[in-house]
Amino acid sequence: MIENVGNDQVLLSKIATSNHHGENSEYFEGWKAYDRDPYHPTNNPNGVIQMGLAENQLCFDLINEWMMQNPQASICTHEGVHRFMDIAIFQDYHGLPEFRRAIAKFMGKVRDERVIFDPNRIVMSGGATGANETIIFCLANPGDVFLIPSPYYPAFYRDLGWRTGVNLVPIPCKSSNNFQITKEALESAYEDALKKDLKVKGLIITNPSNPLGTVLDKGTLRDLVTFINDKRIHLVCDEIYAATVFDPPRFTSVVEVIQDMPGIDRDLIHIIYSLSKDMGLPGFRVGIIYSYNDKVVIAARRMSSFSLVSSQTQHMLAALLSDDAFVNKFLGKSKERLSKRYHHFTGQLANVGIRCLRSNAGLYVWMNLQHLLKEATVEGELKLWKLIINQVKTNMSPGSSFHCSEPGWFRVCFANMDDDTLEKVVKSTPSPINKKRGQMELQLSFTGSDSLSISQLGSLILSPHSPSSESPLVKGRT
Ligand SMILES: Cc1ncc(COP(=O)(O)O)c(C=O)c1O
Repeated sequence: MIENVGNDQVLLSKIATSNHHGENSEYFEGWKAYDRDPYHPTNNPNGVIQMGLAENQLCFDLINEWMMQNPQASICTHEGVHRFMDIAIFQDYHGLPEFRRAIAKFMGKVRDERVIFDPNRIVMSGGATGANETIIFCLANPGDVFLIPSPYYPAFYRDLGWRTGVNLVPIPCKSSNNFQITKEALESAYEDALKKDLKVKGLIITNPSNPLGTVLDKGTLRDLVTFINDKRIHLVCDEIYAATVFDPPRFTSVVEVIQDMPGIDRDLIHIIYSLSKDMGLPGFRVGIIYSYNDKVVIAARRMSSFSLVSSQTQHMLAALLSDDAFVNKFLGKSKERLSKRYHHFTGQLANVGIRCLRSNAGLYVWMNLQHLLKEATVEGELKLWKLIINQVKTNMSPGSSFHCSEPGWFRVCFANMDDDTLEKVVKSTPSPINKKRGQMELQLSFTGSDSLSISQLGSLILSPHSPSSESPLVKGRT
């Protein structure tokens, strides 16, 4: 792997040589630890298990089944090849009309058809990563800032700031009110930024939240919309986890909220969407910018030339997402499976005294390990994180990489593994946690040396390394 471009500053651009990519953060370090030594149930049973990746792998059987039944949707099959040339030469940055229609309809469906999306406002990008960067390029200049409630998705630092030169100002949220954003915290972050002579261009929210797995209620959304409208700044809502809401309360999109707020300037409201989480298709790189501002739609569409979704992918997805019966079944099953997985996982953790923030969305839990910290600092948190990677051989992401203001929280992903495997673990390892309960209680005090046994923390976080070698929680990638 090529690394360290730091000494090439004369030869290369500032962007190419800056560290703003954030690749050295613990979030990505954990991924690298997994890449170096990936767990596999038979080939590498002592490798690192990836629980730091928010992937939704629970419904691939449904997509596979649909693909088998609809071979004409692909231009690389006997049934679909007659469209090959048409699709292969298509390059209009508006996108295939049938794709835009299908995406707009799907976005409405995901929001319980309480809102309607106009296909003419759908702008494509390379995943939400590209969509987020594009919207910032449209709204702000280098040096401008966006407010963002923390904890927040670690790669925002890269996606929103690296190439745009825009900075993020966190609005620290606290565990004392379950990390909910308050008007006071918002107002105070805004005022502090102004005092520092920063130009605040907007507020970015992720609803449902990554890493919290919680949703914003209508009242809070109304407050946020009122706030940005009063200040004449933008509101960017990243709603890429909209369909992962598996338990009540239901998801409320900002689109729904502004329908009842006639005095609001809609030119300030922008939505980011993607199929990476809701459909579990991050490899397809389908990101969407949806803005009510005509000028933003035009500018974003021009910029989308740099990161279009391939016409082959658009063609296939247009057919998949237009199939109402499939989409209804998929969305229903996905919620059902996520809910089951969440309750199973958090239930097992609760049995050994590990608490998670109560959540109802996302592909992860926000786990509280404050009681395992030797010192309540970021350093203490990172020590524990290293211990977990090196000894328990599990990558979960430390809260500090999400800019959490309180040390000791970790995001643990639970949907990047298959259901059968999980059931097998549960059945073949009867009450592993209960068996180890005595050990658990000893270990919870965590006052001794910096060592944890694999069986201790391993069973604590349901690691497949213990007690049964053939109990993979996560199916290793090959
Ligand atoms: C909140 C949030 N926004 C954007 C992204 C990037 O998504 P994509 O794979 O569509 O680029 C992620 C990925 O984890 C995310 O959690």
